[in-house]
Amino acid sequence: MNIDYSQKIPNNVGLSDDRTLQRALEHWQPEFLNWWADMGPDGSAAFDVYLRTAVSVDPAGWANFGYVKMPDYRWGIFLNPAESDRRIGFGDHKGEPAWQEIPGEYRANLRRIVVTQGDTEPASVEQQRHLGLTAPSLYDLRNLFQINVEEGRHLWAMVYLLHRYFGRDGREEAEALLERRSGDQDNPRILGAFNERTPDWLSFFLFTFFTDRDGKFQLCALAESGFDPLARTTRFMLTEEAHHMFVGESGIARILQRTCEVMNQHKTDDPATLRSLGVIDLPAIQRYLNFHYSVTIDLFGADLSSNAATFYSTGIKGRFEESKLTDDHVLKEATYPVLEISGSEIVTREAPALNALNEKLRDDYIRDTLAGVGRWNKVMQKNGIDFQLTVPHKAFNRQIGSFAGVKVAPDGRIVSAADWEAGVRSWLPTEEDKAYVQSLMGRVAEPGKFAHWIAPPPMGINKQPLDFEYVRFG
Ligand SMILES: [Fe+2]
Ligand SMILES: [Fe+2]
Repeated sequence: MNIDYSQKIPNNVGLSDDRTLQRALEHWQPEFLNWWADMGPDGSAAFDVYLRTAVSVDPAGWANFGYVKMPDYRWGIFLNPAESDRRIGFGDHKGEPAWQEIPGEYRANLRRIVVTQGDTEPASVEQQRHLGLTAPSLYDLRNLFQINVEEGRHLWAMVYLLHRYFGRDGREEAEALLERRSGDQDNPRILGAFNERTPDWLSFFLFTFFTDRDGKFQLCALAESGFDPLARTTRFMLTEEAHHMFVGESGIARILQRTCEVMNQHKTDDPATLRSLGVIDLPAIQRYLNFHYSVTIDLFGADLSSNAATFYSTGIKGRFEESKLTDDHVLKEATYPVLEISGSEIVTREAPALNALNEKLRDDYIRDTLAGVGRWNKVMQKNGIDFQLTVPHKAFNRQIGSFAGVKVAPDGRIVSAADWEAGVRSWLPTEEDKAYVQSLMGRVAEPGKFAHWIAPPPMGINKQPLDFEYVRFG
């Protein structure tokens, strides 16, 4: 299962056996590199970065470390090995052999799913492209770049599927993936959260904790797909996604650690005092968390969705850990609890489970998120600080689904417009918060040094010391 790096496009899919496909992808490659030069990490082309590159897809081979100039990173096409005699695990085709080619009637839906997933990958690179200028350490800068090159590779993964299985429409979609731009008025990225700005490192760590975790759950659902090449592609992407979430979780833990240290040193929890001492107060972190959590849970889509039902019944998108669930995997009779508004209250009602699959995936995601927030709270506990981060109510600040535009407080109360106006300053980041966090940002480029507002990590990358030169500016 070694990856062939002697080719223009490294791959383990036997690309050289399919000349037409190889030519088409080799034509797309320079367009990708142009996009990277325009929209990839700002000013980074000459840097030598201590990066991890996959040399094979088995556990021993996918983490090879060495210095790479990012434009020379070997973006390639890697699928997990095929399982022999894999069967579809859910929906109307349950028990039938997984498809190696796309059934014609599911082509449009599969294309839409692959394009939507693919669009998020370059979007996040665009959102993060200025962050390298203000990295709090070389260690953090390297982690940012590692994530960026891997999101680039995730785009390659989806573009391979488009070119290989979707003919001319697929090739056109692959072009369009390089044309949309995060936040662009005329040609934005497809999903809302991927058009938001990621202006500072607090936002970046929350984005990789929350929004890359959405990626994990979408990829897990696609890893169940009856379309086997999609399942194998997304399984390999998941190995990379774990590192992205680690960067987010540990980044926030280190910010909390530094704030707690300064709170203890100066015996204060006063936000203004803490800001004068150069750290981020815990209530501000809570407001940033509320924002990132609410825009990310919107990504799972409407609570009730006939598309979600179709995707499941036709075998193209499963549930999180489908094979571990003990129901009939068809769900025609099953129900699932969803929230809705009744009068002035939010109530729970049972809906057809097939239509509520977005909500189910959102709930699985929320459970995983809560575990991570619990680990953050241990930082305060260990420092003897009486403060707990929480996630807001599922209906808070939603733009999609039955709560779109409804004014709901973080504790789940439906509130009046006046109460929202009065509360929002303590619920979502204020202009002052954003300006303060922005004022802390400035590049720390000396090996082993860290910005004042963030604690060093407990250990370096790949057992290297903390003062290792993770990025050489050249
Ligand atoms: Fe990704
Ligand atoms: Fe990611």
